[in-house]
Amino acid sequence: MENLDDSGWQTVSIPHDWAITMPFARDNDLQKVAVTQNGESVATWKTGRTGGLPWTGTGWYRTTFPTPQGINRSNGSVTLLVDGAMSHSLVFINGQRIGIWPYGYNSYTFDLTPYLKENGEANTLAIRLNNPAESSRWYPGAGLFRRVHLVSAPKVHVPVWGTRVVTTPIGDGAWDVCLTTDIAGTMSHKIIVDTHITDSDGNTVSRNKDFTSPANDAEEDAAITQHLRVNGAHTWTPETPYLYTAVSHIIENGTVVDSFATRFGIRQVEVRQGEGFFLNGEKRKFRGVCLHHDLGPLGAAVHRDALRHQLLMLKDMGADAIRTAHNMPDPQQVELCDSIGLMVMVESFDEWTTAKCRNGYHCWFNETTYTPKAEYPMIWAQHDLRNMIRSLRNHPSVVMWSIGNEIPQQHTEEGRELAKVMQAFCHEQDPTRPVTCGMDQVKSIIKSGFADALDVPGLNYRTHLYEEAYEALPQKYILGSETASTVSSRGVYMRPLALRKDARYDGHQSSGYDTEACSWSNVPDEDFRLQDDFPWTMGQFVWTGFDYLGEPSPYDTDDWPSHSSLFGIIDLASIPKDRYWLYQSQWQPLGTFHVLPHWDWEEGDTVPVMAYSQCAAARLYINDEFYAETRKLTREESESLKGKDPLWLLKRYRLIWPAVPFKAGTLKVEFLNEKGEAVHRVLRHTPSRPHHIAFEPSYYTPGDRLCYVTVTMVDKTGVPCPKDNSLVTFDIEGDAHFKAAANGDATALDPFQEGKMHLFAGQCTVIVEVDGPGGFTVKASAGKQKGNITLPSSPQ
Ligand code: GAL
Repeated sequence: MENLDDSGWQTVSIPHDWAITMPFARDNDLQKVAVTQNGESVATWKTGRTGGLPWTGTGWYRTTFPTPQGINRSNGSVTLLVDGAMSHSLVFINGQRIGIWPYGYNSYTFDLTPYLKENGEANTLAIRLNNPAESSRWYPGAGLFRRVHLVSAPKVHVPVWGTRVVTTPIGDGAWDVCLTTDIAGTMSHKIIVDTHITDSDGNTVSRNKDFTSPANDAEEDAAITQHLRVNGAHTWTPETPYLYTAVSHIIENGTVVDSFATRFGIRQVEVRQGEGFFLNGEKRKFRGVCLHHDLGPLGAAVHRDALRHQLLMLKDMGADAIRTAHNMPDPQQVELCDSIGLMVMVESFDEWTTAKCRNGYHCWFNETTYTPKAEYPMIWAQHDLRNMIRSLRNHPSVVMWSIGNEIPQQHTEEGRELAKVMQAFCHEQDPTRPVTCGMDQVKSIIKSGFADALDVPGLNYRTHLYEEAYEALPQKYILGSETASTVSSRGVYMRPLALRKDARYDGHQSSGYDTEACSWSNVPDEDFRLQDDFPWTMGQFVWTGFDYLGEPSPYDTDDWPSHSSLFGIIDLASIPKDRYWLYQSQWQPLGTFHVLPHWDWEEGDTVPVMAYSQCAAARLYINDEFYAETRKLTREESESLKGKDPLWLLKRYRLIWPAVPFKAGTLKVEFLNEKGEAVHRVLRHTPSRPHHIAFEPSYYTPGDRLCYVTVTMVDKTGVPCPKDNSLVTFDIEGDAHFKAAANGDATALDPFQEGKMHLFAGQCTVIVEVDGPGGFTVKASAGKQKGNITLPSSPQ
């Protein structure tokens, strides 16, 4: 194995997803299954369920590296740290198999020291991955899709994930920072740990110099706990994401042998019975979204700038939290949440011991196979929870652990007992954070005691059962761990305006009016009502912030082509759907003035018009002629229309003109303040013919590695042409290259990474990777229509 000739292998850079560059095909994930989650009992053909891409099968990765200078088998250490590898890793060093890690989403480590070559010879690291068919309910990605690190350290060192920070208020604005540091490879003499806490400007605000007693056994690892006081602390909140760093120097015989930096925030998380969630003593309701891990056209290959782009869009929408559904996140996503200011519910599993997918995690949950040095026999579920908690416990953004999502055993006593064991295991690993689980069988979890057992009962959908659950459960608060699952396609509007469940249309799209959901799910307004009317709701995590590959409900049938979700508030091309502004109008205090739909219809058409805003009233004009004023209903007014008007609830949260006669020209909406004065105007013009291509960079600043650019077909005067679906070809000049493109259309079969893309509802996104400081030009052409944009860049 070690001497294998790999000269014919493809050279790739890590992170890498082998399936995302391949063509979509119906046969890639054709399955005959009953999706029990969606209430199906009869198996039928399904296409696109996991994204329609070839992610199953085996992949091998090999690389060589020299043993770091000054390190050898008896002095020093080299640890392999993998942030996630999809999936069933088999790890080999110099031809020797040293371990396995089945779960693709988790971080894992292996000590490579005993196997290292000496005398400058190269070491060969090989990782074999294997993705069985029917092992996922969505697109998992394929390959070494997260970073792989080699961490070298001297013999006496702080191991990977070797520190733990707990912060506690001690009065008068002072906080106790309790730092526990593991020290590996200790000898039988004193080790001093000299720790400084620095603030965000690099000033030392606290210091502690402590030492460990000599270990009894010369090879025994040690841990040291230090308390450091920070006066006048800046506490971490989503609005003030202030970060400190604890820098620890490990001193042996008067010499600093290792240094370790731990970034953390000062904050405290609590759940209080009958009240809900508190951050630093202040009650808050989550304004959260669930996120799958894929990055649309980049697939599952993680890219820091792509994660940042997603999080900044969500932050501007007014979100203050994300849930990493239904698995461990890439660590960079959590680091970004620390600094951008978003709370995180870190989730672990979609399955325990009962299958959702034939070859899913249930095959491993209870297994005890573990190759190197198991400290005590743990099942894989525990190894996975442990690594999740150890790797992410110092992030202030992480406020809650989730032990699972819609676990099929939630209605059984066995399920309840397992939930207790898993929650206790999380508490043992981290006593500072509450534990939740997303539950969908509301009546059963009340009966089985499953929900009683949890720190935080999390309900998925079933808004009509919240009050019943609240009455029955001892915690006396309910988290909307998963809400809405409204389906919509950007820029596609189904008329007349109606609330529909499981609606299916010939073109495989859903309505952009935000009025459609699946049989089990609901429109956003239902969740807003619960959050507004009941003090005991703890907020929500909307399904989902972004569209993702796979799960094309309501087309998760044999309705090929359809390869990605329609649930996103933002589409697969990272372009907001109208719903973005509906959430913004609830989650931001001011400044939302959004009108839908476009104004490009046929004479004689009747078009519903809506506006999403914090303003409670607005006037509509067509070609400057007053049409009608509308206002949002109060709670009482809306409740009084229940059973009489299907839009009773929508009228509480949206400004609606249900049937406006179309006339070409200009639609104008004037938003009014409480005094009836116009505070803002939005115009929608009817476009003439497509004329040229316009560009708008999205959250790009020179220095970024990735640049997202929104591409729009416009008429001569710059008005968007929402019906144009031309094929656009890209050409990038200068210090950058084409990375990917996407249009947000779940039915489009255009490969993401080939330099061209059809527009969908007149738009698409091109992602450019910056190579150097010279700036770059993005050129696009669709026959006669052309355009270009030149952007600056900085050294990479
Ligand atoms: C939930 C499930 C999610 C997703 C969603 C679609 O029941 O937890 O993973 O499938 O439904 O609405």
